[in-house]
Amino acid sequence: MNYGTRTDPHAQARAARQGPVLLHSLSCFREIFEIVYAHRPIRTVVEVGVESGQVSGIYTELGATAVYCVDPEPTDSLRAALRANPALHLVEAHSPDVLPELPVADLYVLDGDHNYATVRAELDWVLANAPDAVAVLHDLLWPCSRRDQYYLPSRLAPEDRHPSSADGPTVWHDELTPAGFVGLGAFTAAQEAGGERNGVLTAVEDALAAHDGWHLAMVPAIFGVGVVTRHEALLGALAPYRDSRLLYTMENNRIALYTRLLQLQFEAVAHAEDADTMAETVNRQRQEIDRLTAETADLRAQAGELRRQNERLRAMVDERSPSLADRVLRRQ
Ligand SMILES: C[S@@+](CC[C@H](N)C(=O)[O-])C[C@H]1O[C@@H](n2cnc3c(N)ncnc32)[C@H](O)[C@@H]1O
Repeated sequence: MNYGTRTDPHAQARAARQGPVLLHSLSCFREIFEIVYAHRPIRTVVEVGVESGQVSGIYTELGATAVYCVDPEPTDSLRAALRANPALHLVEAHSPDVLPELPVADLYVLDGDHNYATVRAELDWVLANAPDAVAVLHDLLWPCSRRDQYYLPSRLAPEDRHPSSADGPTVWHDELTPAGFVGLGAFTAAQEAGGERNGVLTAVEDALAAHDGWHLAMVPAIFGVGVVTRHEALLGALAPYRDSRLLYTMENNRIALYTRLLQLQFEAVAHAEDADTMAETVNRQRQEIDRLTAETADLRAQAGELRRQNERLRAMVDERSPSLADRVLRRQ
């Protein structure tokens, strides 16, 4: 950690601007994984939901010898990242279906499709088949705690999915909004939060209720990480992070600021679109003004010509008027 010095006072600011605007990756939780590794022998890892692969290497750095990286839609950069480390094995498949086909692991990291049906099935499988394992789950807090998210709802049975929307949640009101935390085509969100069989935390609670002896330690930071284990020593070691009021307060502030930023961005785009429409209208009106100005100049030129003709005619009449007067006089 670099807090800056008298001669390098900007070190912390530099570190701050190097990070993404929105922290969302489990790579931020290295010190939580260090605690897990310090208290459990972790050799085999199953990582569900890999995305960029920025966490996968951490599991081997900490001592795992094989990591099965499960993601149905690996990008080319993910493939390349995994190819660079022979201990990382890409499993191009959907969880939970693929879990029984993989070696039983010491650590399951569940961060794939964030909905009740998927997470409940994943955790049920782990708790039933890997009694000594540790499960680390991401997105146990807002926005997925009590509201399903779907990468691929069509894979779920109709009764396992809630009506969903491309709009996203915000902390500023309870309904979804296009100005909220939207999936931009990658995922959708359940229209309603709460109730039964909705959300990741609800899935974890129900799975723990169905399997004796397991406990959840919630680390309330960066969308919420849960460590599910049967090992008291590990739970004890996580105590400084578990249900930390400080982390919870900072997380709430983070999601409030971030969703405010999303709203401002949405409004800025809407204003930019308004400005475009306004510019088009101004342009059209300017062309109309140019046309009318040209027409006015033309009419002015015509009026000038008529005025000159009129003057010529008046002069002719004035020239002829005396002879007209003579004629009138002679007749008398
Ligand atoms: C939030 S990202 C994972 C981020 C990553 N764990 C990290 O912390 O950097 C979710 C990933 O889960 C994958 N995914 C979606 N549905 C899945 C499923 N049923 N099984 C496995 N992975 C899934 C998506 O393709 C996506 O890459």
